[in-house]
Amino acid sequence: MNAKIIGTGFQLPVYVADNDYLATLVETSDEWIAERTGIRARHLAREETTTSMAADAARKALAASGLRAEEIGLLIVATISSDTETPSTACRVQAELGLSGALAFDINAACSGFLYAVHIADAFIKSGFCRNALIVGAETLSKLVDWTDRSTCILFGDGAGAAVLQASEKGGVLSQSLGSDGSRWEVLFCQGRPNGNPLCKTAGQPGYMRMDGQAVFKFAVRTVPVCVEDVLQKAGVSGDEVKYFVLHQANSRIIQSVAKRLGQPEDKFPMNLAQCGNTSAASLPILLAQMNEEGKLQKGDKLVLSGFGAGLTWGACLLEW
Ligand code: UT7
Repeated sequence: MNAKIIGTGFQLPVYVADNDYLATLVETSDEWIAERTGIRARHLAREETTTSMAADAARKALAASGLRAEEIGLLIVATISSDTETPSTACRVQAELGLSGALAFDINAACSGFLYAVHIADAFIKSGFCRNALIVGAETLSKLVDWTDRSTCILFGDGAGAAVLQASEKGGVLSQSLGSDGSRWEVLFCQGRPNGNPLCKTAGQPGYMRMDGQAVFKFAVRTVPVCVEDVLQKAGVSGDEVKYFVLHQANSRIIQSVAKRLGQPEDKFPMNLAQCGNTSAASLPILLAQMNEEGKLQKGDKLVLSGFGAGLTWGACLLEW
């Protein structure tokens, strides 16, 4: 039994901030951002929350799957920007959708989170724990970003994407490759809320996202091709048989470099980062849901998903649609 995607959905905030708007906040320009990253705009939450977008995306994916709420046995939300420290976003989405029969929990693997969720859901399905799983990537990165730091605030956006996975004897997840290297956690991190404990010497200001952009860039262009080759080799599938390589939307130059290293044409690497920026764990499921909505995915198509991010973490999976 493999986990197979039978429904997708996504939700983006209504408000769109273009690069010119960001140039009113920090010293930057549309030209610099577009040239270095491929990003022209991003959706930013005003009314929306991580929970509301996760629930909306999940509701759409569930409707597309044709399943009833009580048929979902597992709900995973991948996020680094949960609205509440506890309970998890997953438990709140469970309540909103009435997924009474689901085990619900969050995972934190940053931009690789959706791939980790695919792996966990596939393992739960293979073990017989459940037949149907709902996995969501949801982020409100705008609340983690330092809006005075031009090297990070221009990159990120908010949104959510979701997929329903079902046990299937044919197709679905054919192979996977995941990794993490905690020794490099300081390359990209967010300190989070201050410690209010009066006994604790580290009490102080909340921290925002901090990143060594060039280190992340080099890590991505080296690691992504290796894990993509790994999933292809494990399944005995060649790159030429893959219809689309759906990569984490962080920077168009990273995606172009990966395409070159894999010897594959750039038109097999769909992108939405011009409109959405980098939405971390939400990036892959948003793009996948958009492609599905546009009718780009046909039964039997082979797709590779791959991502990388804070941790450091990375991963890939090969799917048959
Ligand atoms: O999900 C994973 C998340 N992280 C990533 O994917 C990050 C991967 N890395 C990147 O995408 C790129 O490293 C960045 C887009 C973040 C930066 O691009 P870069 O080509 O590596 O630029 P840089 O950091 O080498 O900076 C070059 C110059 C610097 O000025 P000086 O020192 O040469 O005078 C920066 O201060 O560009 C300056 N700069 C900016 N200028 C205008 C940095 N950010 C900006 C900005 N606008 N927004």
